[in-house]
Amino acid sequence: MSMISNPTRPTSGPGPLVAGGHSAALAPEGAASLYDLAELYDAIVQSGPCEAFYREEARRWGGPVLELACGTGRLTLPLAQDGHEVVGLDASGAMLEAARRKAAQAGLGSGLKPEFVLGDMRDFDLGRRFGLVVISCNSLAHLTDRDDLRACLAAVRRHLAPGGALVFDVVLPDPRILAQPGGVARRLDLGPNPASAIEAEEWAHYDAVRQVRVSHWSIRRPGEEEQAMAPLVLRQFFPQELPLLLEAEGLGLLERHGDFARNPMEAWSLNQVCVAQVLGSGT
Ligand SMILES: C[S@@+](CC[C@H](N)C(=O)[O-])C[C@H]1O[C@@H](n2cnc3c(N)ncnc32)[C@H](O)[C@@H]1O
Repeated sequence: MSMISNPTRPTSGPGPLVAGGHSAALAPEGAASLYDLAELYDAIVQSGPCEAFYREEARRWGGPVLELACGTGRLTLPLAQDGHEVVGLDASGAMLEAARRKAAQAGLGSGLKPEFVLGDMRDFDLGRRFGLVVISCNSLAHLTDRDDLRACLAAVRRHLAPGGALVFDVVLPDPRILAQPGGVARRLDLGPNPASAIEAEEWAHYDAVRQVRVSHWSIRRPGEEEQAMAPLVLRQFFPQELPLLLEAEGLGLLERHGDFARNPMEAWSLNQVCVAQVLGSGT
């Protein structure tokens, strides 16, 4: 589901709630992020159509596969189950711990065992190259500064085997949603989380200079106190700038789809689903 990928889309909740009510409280210093609470992440981010898409891409490009910002292994595990040699890298120890636990529970044995590495996608050196590098679920949007993005794309380039591909998805920003006034909390539709019992509200604003959307979440789990989460700060990649950012780091867009079914990107598309290669190697 698209909660993290696209928290800006309309929700099916009961409509706007004025901030300052029972929710929309700013998180205290040091509040947990969603990525500190892996079980919460797994409860509310279900697998979706991206899984079939990335499995197809892995068959297309071959391995080994490197998944950056792999989280709790939502894609890493199915890719390993398909027989690919997979390395998943993430900056959150909690997310990786959950990924390792799930891999063990799935009985992924020595031949198919994904390798999980704690690391920062802006600065890593695995000492080897990959046929496919994946960055799914809008994770690239965590790189809010130009230098961070450059560093990540340079590291991707260094890890791509000749003829290999970087495949990633980011949100297609919707200016109508970005322009919505701050100061209003909205109930988020978290989809079929267990018994649909976890409630979340979001208060967000858009910083047009930094091109980031800052969203504050408040979560209520059954029988628990409401919990204010550390803000999510997500870079918005506008469609005309994205190819230029890639090209500046020597990567060219081979394909861009508007969804995981590979439909063309249109004004109403939710995502930019991108296949890129080192310039000159097919682009
Ligand atoms: C939206 S989750 C996506 C997880 C997974 N790809 C999925 O599809 O479920 C974003 C992930 O990015 C990770 N992340 C954020 N910044 C990172 C960085 N600089 N380097 C590596 N991982 C990072 C977070 O820890 C989190 O697991």
